[in-house]
Amino acid sequence: MSEQELIQHAQRGMEQAYAPYSNFRVGAALLAKSGNIYLGCNIENSSYGATNCAERTAIFKAVSEGEREFEAIAIVCSNGTKAYPCGICLQVMSEFLPEGKVILEDENGIQTYKVSELLPSAFRLDISESC
Ligand code: THU
Repeated sequence: MSEQELIQHAQRGMEQAYAPYSNFRVGAALLAKSGNIYLGCNIENSSYGATNCAERTAIFKAVSEGEREFEAIAIVCSNGTKAYPCGICLQVMSEFLPEGKVILEDENGIQTYKVSELLPSAFRLDISESC
């Protein structure tokens, strides 16, 4: 799966964005180590704080389907600039793809970042056993 292909999946994810309040549409495509791809979009709410970002939509969909390990996430937004993930989404990425790649695109092309580069001091709790 090339970075460009994952960006194209993110654009497909953006088609489902529900963003009547901001008119800022975001799409994400999450590549699991299994090879499966999970799409996400932002889902807004009249109670603004209830809004869910595209990245977390994709990650929560995947985890709820039994995936735990991920390679990369591509993110696009409707204004064509780089869609840097918000702090909450970076924290969630630190949980599930701490070594993963974040793939963004703007008019200069594709740029990739490590999650740890975008959120170097993520909050962590040691977990002795997983559930
Ligand atoms: N948004 C995302 O989907 N991902 C982010 O990382 C930042 C922001 C959405 C939330 C809201 O629907 C819109 O962008 C404007 O904040």
